[in-house]
Formats: sequence, structure tokens, C-alpha cells
Amino acid sequence: MTSEFAVEMRDVVKKFITPEGNELNAVDHVTMQIKNGEFFSMLGSSGCGKTTSLRMIAGFEWPTEGEVYIEGKGMGHTPPYQRKVNTVFQSYALFQHMTVFQNIAFGLEMEGAKEDEIKKRVGRALEMVQLTGMERRRPKQLSGGQQQRVAVARALVKTPDVLLLDEPLGALDLKLRKEMQLELKALQQQLGITFIYVTHDQEEALTMSDRIAVMSKGRVQQLATPVEIYERPVNKFVADFIGESNFMEGKIKSLSGNEAVVHVPALNAEIRGMPMSQNFVNGEEVVVSVRPEKIRIAEQSAKGDGLFKARVLNSVYIGSDTHVYVDMQGLRLKVMEQNRISRLDPSSFYVKEQEITLVFMPENTLVLKKD
Ligand SMILES: Nc1ncnc2c1ncn2[C@@H]1O[C@H](COP(=O)(O)OP(=O)(O)O)[C@@H](O)[C@H]1O
Ligand SMILES: [Mg+2]
Repeated sequence: MTSEFAVEMRDVVKKFITPEGNELNAVDHVTMQIKNGEFFSMLGSSGCGKTTSLRMIAGFEWPTEGEVYIEGKGMGHTPPYQRKVNTVFQSYALFQHMTVFQNIAFGLEMEGAKEDEIKKRVGRALEMVQLTGMERRRPKQLSGGQQQRVAVARALVKTPDVLLLDEPLGALDLKLRKEMQLELKALQQQLGITFIYVTHDQEEALTMSDRIAVMSKGRVQQLATPVEIYERPVNKFVADFIGESNFMEGKIKSLSGNEAVVHVPALNAEIRGMPMSQNFVNGEEVVVSVRPEKIRIAEQSAKGDGLFKARVLNSVYIGSDTHVYVDMQGLRLKVMEQNRISRLDPSSFYVKEQEITLVFMPENTLVLKKD
């Protein structure tokens, strides 16, 4: 390996002219470094520039500005077939009239590989995706998950250093998608090759990735591990996009290294939270963010700091959890409680208009920049 990084994008911009004649930065000064052997995801809603980024790595598009590096080498206008990357597309586009074997062998035949070489490599690729014995079937005779695995095998047969996957599970139903997520992750770990995975599905990204780049409007909002992204979102966009968050407007009253005291006018109270930026100033208007499962409903008799009275608006039982919507002096919050105990006893339910006490732990209460 010549470089610590399998792939790098350095300050990459991709401009398109829209059908309306406007200039659009589909990818807007993106920098990311993807490590060798890493499962890396780009996560963001439709149109945020994920596919365009992947296509520039693959060589189907060229950056307007900046540069893509593979194994430390600037790619310039290197064509796709000269890059050690291979792509699995969302519509996996198997040839319907060809067998599984022929589908997987196709790329090798194009390269003029010898017959016994092709046989050996297709066999190995089929083994990797656990489809040995299915060589003679046609795509129609396979389940959706199996077709997906053929598409992956077709990309793996060329032994790329990096596999690019553009929403490869998009066409599958939820249950199968979850199975395939674990399967692809296991395959990646077993092969040790770098996966760059594009998805708009946050749970998918959190499940599979070593690191995630959260993207919006062509920009990287945060690049970090799943845990960091969920527990320590750097801004309101990420806190809102990944999982659920309650937001409150506030103003900084005092700051120390790892704690901020924030006045929340709506509550006429002060909340202690963790400042998620180094450059807050006293008096700054901020957003306080708390995840629903990080708010605890305390015993009625509870006393002390960080307790807030709230009134139940609605309580929804969803089996594994109960979602409690509350009003805290005009602020509407969502609280999630795991159903550790059976709720068969009606008195274990929260009821409309009930007064409850909420606890916020400062380390779970994030102070974010107002954007
Ligand atoms: N060839 C193109 N010409 C003009 N606009 C494009 C082209 N390809 C993509 N775009 C635009 O660039 C933006 C990013 O697209 P894309 O990378 O496909 O997003 P994503 O994969 O995250 O959904 C979108 O607004 C899309 O409409
Ligand atoms: Mg896309």
C-alpha cells in the first residue's frame, strides 16, 4: 500500500448546469479521507451529492475543482477501468438473459481473461457471496437478495481494492434489507477491502459503517463514527437528521470547558449542557438539544437539580417503547421510555393531563450553534 488512505477527496467541487440554466454545486468543497479497509458511508437525503461524489471516485465524472486520490495518486482524468475501484449500482442491472455465471464472468471476458482463469475467479466470487451451486440460474429464478448478491459478486470478481456501493439495497423490502446489511458488513470484514457505501437510510449507515460522512446540499456536515454522530452531533442539522431530537432555544449564561449553563426563556429556567463548539461566547443565542430516550421520567417524589415538571399530552405504546409527548411550560417535547416492565397494568401507563417530572443529564444535553 502506498498510502494510508484508499481514497481521498480534496476540496472537490462539481458544478452542473440545471435544466433551468442555473449553476449548481452538486458537490461543494468536499474533503474526505477514506482509510484502507474501512467501511465508509456517505449519508444524506436525496440530491445532497452522494452519487455525484461516488461517480467522481469511480471516474464517471471529473471534478470541476479539487482532486480525487486513489492510493495516494491524483486521478486527474484517469478513466474508470484504470482505477482499482468497482461499483455496485442501485439498479443492479443484471443481464436477464444470462445465467448467474455469465453475469459474473462478463467483465472478465471483456478483459480477455482465459477460460480456466474465469472459472476459478467466478467460483471464488460466488463462494464469497454464498451462491455456490446457483451458477446456471437466471436472475428471474433468484430472490431479490440473491440477485443483489450476484451484483456484488460481479463487482468483486475483478478484485477491486475499493468497492463503491450506491444504495445497493434500495430495491429490497425492509426485512431482507436488514439481513443484507449484516451480510455485506460481514463480507467486507472478511475480505478486508474498502467499502464506500452511499445511502439515505440513517439506520443502515449506523448499522454498517466504521465512519459516516453526513452530507447536505453538497457539503459534509460531519464526518465521524456512528456513535460520535449520534451522541455528539456538531450542529442542529445533524442532530435533527440522525435520530430524533428535542430542540429548545436558549442563551449562554456561563461557560466552562465541558459545561455550559443555558438560560431557556420558554422554561424560565437554566439548563446545564455540553457545549458542542469551542467558540461560543457568553450571551450567545444557542439551541439546546436532547434526544427523547435521554430524558428520564423520574419518580414523583424526586427532588434536586435538573428536574422539570411537565404535563402529559399523549402517550403512545409501541411495544418495545412508550412515546410520551409532554408540555413543559408551552414547550412540546418527546420522551421515550423503554418498556422494561410490562404495561399490562393500566396504572403503569402515562395518561393525558398527568403531571410528571423529567430529568435531563447535562452530558446528554447538547448546546449547539444556532444556524
Ligand atoms: N448530470 C447532471 N446534470 C445536472 N444536474 C445534476 C446531474 N447529476 C446530478 N445533478 C444534480 O446534482 C445534485 C446532486 O445529485 P446526486 O449526486 O445524484 O444526489 P444524491 O445521490 O445524493 O441523491 C442534485 O440536485 C441533482 O439534481
Ligand atoms: Mg443518488
